[in-house]
Amino acid sequence: MIGQHYIVTGGTSGLGLEIVKQLLEKGVFVTVIARNESKFNDIDFGSYQSKVTMVHCDLQNREAIANITSTIKYPINGLIYSSGLGYFKSVTHHSTEEMIETYDVNLISFNLLYNVLRPYFSKNASIVSISSQAAFVTQANAAHYGASKAALNAVLNALRIEESQFHFMAVNPGPIKTPFHEKADPSLKYAQKYETVMIDPQQLAKDILIGIIKRKREINQPKWMHSLLKIYQLAPRTFEQWLTPLFKNKS
Ligand SMILES: NC(=O)c1ccc[n+]([C@@H]2O[C@H](COP(=O)([O-])OP(=O)(O)OC[C@H]3O[C@@H](n4cnc5c(N)ncnc54)[C@H](OP(=O)(O)O)[C@@H]3O)[C@@H](O)[C@H]2O)c1
Repeated sequence: MIGQHYIVTGGTSGLGLEIVKQLLEKGVFVTVIARNESKFNDIDFGSYQSKVTMVHCDLQNREAIANITSTIKYPINGLIYSSGLGYFKSVTHHSTEEMIETYDVNLISFNLLYNVLRPYFSKNASIVSISSQAAFVTQANAAHYGASKAALNAVLNALRIEESQFHFMAVNPGPIKTPFHEKADPSLKYAQKYETVMIDPQQLAKDILIGIIKRKREINQPKWMHSLLKIYQLAPRTFEQWLTPLFKNKS
């Protein structure tokens, strides 16, 4: 990957930030697309500082996305779309703004950004979207989050067939130890309950870089969760009826 150029969204926090750091360690030039300039400026990239730049863009601003290529260097060898959010609350408790923000940032803006960056992708570029195991299961209090991630996977899977000149990889993690939870559930009840099984973002970032190098199509972690969800998918409505409390663990 030495000397390549990657674009990373969500690179100011959590998993995205870990990915940026590890790309830099591999000798990659990184452009972080972020909405919060001071947050980016506060990050210490040490000796890699000159290899990372930030392009300002709020991923809810469609005009800013449409105009982004004027400020981005090309060619682009990869896009890692790690920006995302969710609100762990019932469908009726989501405000209109929260619902739209969830679909905008998790789904629509991936599509918009992909379309504007596409002409600048190198041959065989890697496009990675950070989705979630929530894409595979019905969950009370995470309906819009799960729906946005299921749709994101559907789009990526179709792109893999439509645009076979590129490498597409969907990353579907269970809970990760990141600031995501402070917004999803400010009471931190969910984060505290699942702290012991949370994925280490540093290790996941490492696995993602290996996945890019090996041209994997999917990363599903933790493996036990993905296997259980495969069984669940054999009779989802029945399991939801029999084991209802398990599908309400985000309340
Ligand atoms: N943490 C988990 O348990 C978990 C589990 C499964 C999947 N995921 C997925 O993993 C990905 C990374 O999340 P994370 O855990 O690293 O969360 P995080 O620490 O909260 O990071 C989310 C990133 O998205 C950026 N972002 C949000 N809204 C944006 C907007 N409108 N414009 C530009 N950037 C925006 C944030 O920027 P600001 O710093 O400016 O807010 C931040 O850099 C997300 O797609 C998430 O859905 C997370």
